[in-house]
Amino acid sequence: MKILAIIGSPRGMQGNTGRLLDEVLSGVREAGAEIEILSLKSLNVQPCVACDMCHKDGICNIKDDYETIKDKLLACDGFILASPNYIFSVSAQMKALFDRCNGLIHCMALEGKYAAMVETSGGGEDEEVLAYMSRFVNTLGANSVGGIGSAVAGVRTFSDEENLYTKARTLGKKLCQSITDKQAYPDQDGFRAAFRLRISGLVDFMQEYWPFEREYWKKKRMNAGM
Ligand SMILES: Cc1cc2nc3c(=O)[nH]c(=O)nc-3n(C[C@H](O)[C@H](O)[C@H](O)COP(=O)(O)O)c2cc1C
Repeated sequence: MKILAIIGSPRGMQGNTGRLLDEVLSGVREAGAEIEILSLKSLNVQPCVACDMCHKDGICNIKDDYETIKDKLLACDGFILASPNYIFSVSAQMKALFDRCNGLIHCMALEGKYAAMVETSGGGEDEEVLAYMSRFVNTLGANSVGGIGSAVAGVRTFSDEENLYTKARTLGKKLCQSITDKQAYPDQDGFRAAFRLRISGLVDFMQEYWPFEREYWKKKRMNAGM
């Protein structure tokens, strides 16, 4: 089982988010999965330029590390997104990656995969950021197994750290268990079904302007017997 962890902190694994992610990864390791960590601070992921090439031919035109990350997302069984709270949202590094995933989102290309989220903040709104990340996961077609977030208590410390770390390791194990069991998350089905209708309808509407996505949905519907 392959788990890909993507961290969007400019402090990489050395910061608060990295420390919490590390605990989630301990749980993943205990479950026996193979881990790859991608730290966006050391990778080049430029902002989307809205050229529409991903919709037209399935490949992004920008020559940076995005296509490699995309291939790793497509190849993994599960992934973890980890970001600090930057102004009630994810860091710019993580947001750039989210935007570049627009083509994957239009295809809901990560259907059948599972994801967990990790967030840290200076003072709160952890649930708000986790909910945003979870929605991103669902737009990719994937299942969100849950997230863990915490405000920092002081310099590089969390309040009730022992309890937080136990929950983090449990989340890592839950991610792997969900993959093994092909766990259903029915509470997310409504959003995904509505999004599927909306996005496949948009692709139909764009017809020959977005040929890659049109073909993708044609095959997807055929495989689903629709
Ligand atoms: C640019 C910037 C924006 C931030 N915005 C918020 C915020 O809106 N709310 C909050 O609680 N903390 C905010 N913080 C604090 C970070 O979320 C917090 O320190 C986090 O744990 C940093 O994680 P890291 O060490 O992994 O980078 C911000 C920090 C920076 C540098």
